[in-house]
Amino acid sequence: MNNKPVAIITGAGQGIGRGIAIELAKNGFDIVGVDVIFKPEFDQAGLFEVKEHVKELDADFLPVQGDISSLDDHEKILKETLDKFGRIDVLVNNAGVAPEKRMDILEMTPESFDRLLSINTRGTLFLTQRIANQMKEHVEENPVLEPCIIFISSISAEVSSTSRAEYCISKAAVSQIARIFADRLTEYGINVYEVRPGIIKTGMTAPVREKYDKLIEEGFVPQKRWGFPEDVGKAVAALAQGDFGYSTGLVVEISGGMNIRRL
Ligand SMILES: NC(=O)c1ccc[n+]([C@@H]2O[C@H](COP(=O)([O-])OP(=O)(O)OC[C@H]3O[C@@H](n4cnc5c(N)ncnc54)[C@H](O)[C@@H]3O)[C@@H](O)[C@H]2O)c1
Repeated sequence: MNNKPVAIITGAGQGIGRGIAIELAKNGFDIVGVDVIFKPEFDQAGLFEVKEHVKELDADFLPVQGDISSLDDHEKILKETLDKFGRIDVLVNNAGVAPEKRMDILEMTPESFDRLLSINTRGTLFLTQRIANQMKEHVEENPVLEPCIIFISSISAEVSSTSRAEYCISKAAVSQIARIFADRLTEYGINVYEVRPGIIKTGMTAPVREKYDKLIEEGFVPQKRWGFPEDVGKAVAALAQGDFGYSTGLVVEISGGMNIRRL
């Protein structure tokens, strides 16, 4: 079994997943980085850039090609992780997508709805189910282990955006999935947390950068700046290393104060 704790991070090739990989590596974890995009010949961006970065932090990094919406890929992720490290201490469910085209809920298509629910919700749910069963076995064999599961949902789990309802719905469901796993897994000492990012500067928000620049400048975000992947990564690291060990089911919002209702 690997000496250091091991974290599986989905969608680790860029953006928030990359930020989480770096912060967990800084905090003593070895990393399994999963992404649907997999280009071993290219280390300027994507999973293999993250691998190089993490290696400089003295952490091991296993890149795994996997699409979380494919149940077959869940087995592959598990097998490659156990073959290499023999343990799973943390699962970070970060991979997710936005609608290819923002459309009003009065025009939203069933295809876009199905795509988002299939990746963000169904994929996240069944990958978690598979890994949670493995964690349960590990804990039964070795009660010293205290694994945890962290879901990256969104403020969109609660905030309404009429031009991307399918995203909001997919994330509201993720929030409930986190709550139910938190409830179910307490008896095995497996804590479950939900992290809700606000407006974070990544590839996902690149198409709406000007719109959000303006909103931020106008004070829509009380802390008046974009969030960065490392803001989310630092919160995940605190949860992953047990700083909130008596708080399973905790929801942490990383949104520069957008949780404050204002008059
Ligand atoms: N950026 C934001 O403002 C923001 C805010 C709230 C929540 N989030 C959530 O944070 C997570 C990461 O977002 P981001 O902004 O870093 O996005 P991003 O698009 O920059 O990166 C997402 C990564 O996930 C990978 N990915 C996509 N579909 C996948 C799949 N089916 N299987 C495996 N990997 C897949 C992509 O290849 C990419 O590397 C998402 O769940 C997103 O919904 C983002």
